[in-house]
Amino acid sequence: MTRGQTELGDITQHNLKQLKRLNQVVFPVTYNDKFYKDVLEVGELAKLAYFNDIVVGAVCCRVDVSDGQRRLYIMTLGALAPYRRLGIGTIMLNHVLKICNTDGNYDNVFLHVQVNNDVAIKFYEKFGFEIVEEKKNYYKRIEPADAYVLQKSFRDSGKRSKQEMTEEEMEGEASPSN
Ligand SMILES: CC(C)(COP(=O)(O)OP(=O)(O)OC[C@H]1O[C@@H](n2cnc3c(N)ncnc32)[C@H](O)[C@@H]1OP(=O)(O)O)[C@@H](O)C(=O)NCCC(=O)NCCS
Repeated sequence: MTRGQTELGDITQHNLKQLKRLNQVVFPVTYNDKFYKDVLEVGELAKLAYFNDIVVGAVCCRVDVSDGQRRLYIMTLGALAPYRRLGIGTIMLNHVLKICNTDGNYDNVFLHVQVNNDVAIKFYEKFGFEIVEEKKNYYKRIEPADAYVLQKSFRDSGKRSKQEMTEEEMEGEASPSN
């Protein structure tokens, strides 16, 4: 299939069933009524992807505030199998990353994937996501049950502030590099 025109559209009461059907086909996990109720409330954080006017993909995220961090959590991001490798996942992920950049107040964006989902891991790594954790028995009803946490950070938490640097390091920083 050649690359056609892909557009993102809002999720509403009227097309919610299309999202449910798509998720049933694309993901091994079943999402409950609360998931779909919440998706209607998150605005730009949930989108359907249309390929030449047909629904072929969807992305659903939510804001996660925990442990003093504000994070964007990608709950689902997927495309129907015949429509993969056409750049549709990229369009959905870029939409999410643009929201994070525009907002400027997210520490990171993260998601869970089954440890054997090599395609998704490759896909996310292309965008700078890294495996930061392995969660044993994360999934209750599917095999393998273990998940990786993939994360892309927006703040350089490893970098110390000027106050924390020694005088020597400060001098080194001030001197020209060539
Ligand atoms: C992961 C997924 C969303 C990717 O969507 P997609 O529309 O096929 O991705 P794109 O066409 O935008 O691919 C972007 C890049 O990701 C990488 N990639 C995607 N699929 C790949 C594959 N099968 N093998 C290797 N690399 C792959 C490539 O680098 C690709 O760029 P290229 O085509 O120019 O080489 C899709 O495979 C999918 O829906 N999987 C099932 C659901 C899922 O597992 N979601 C992830 C957990 S939320």
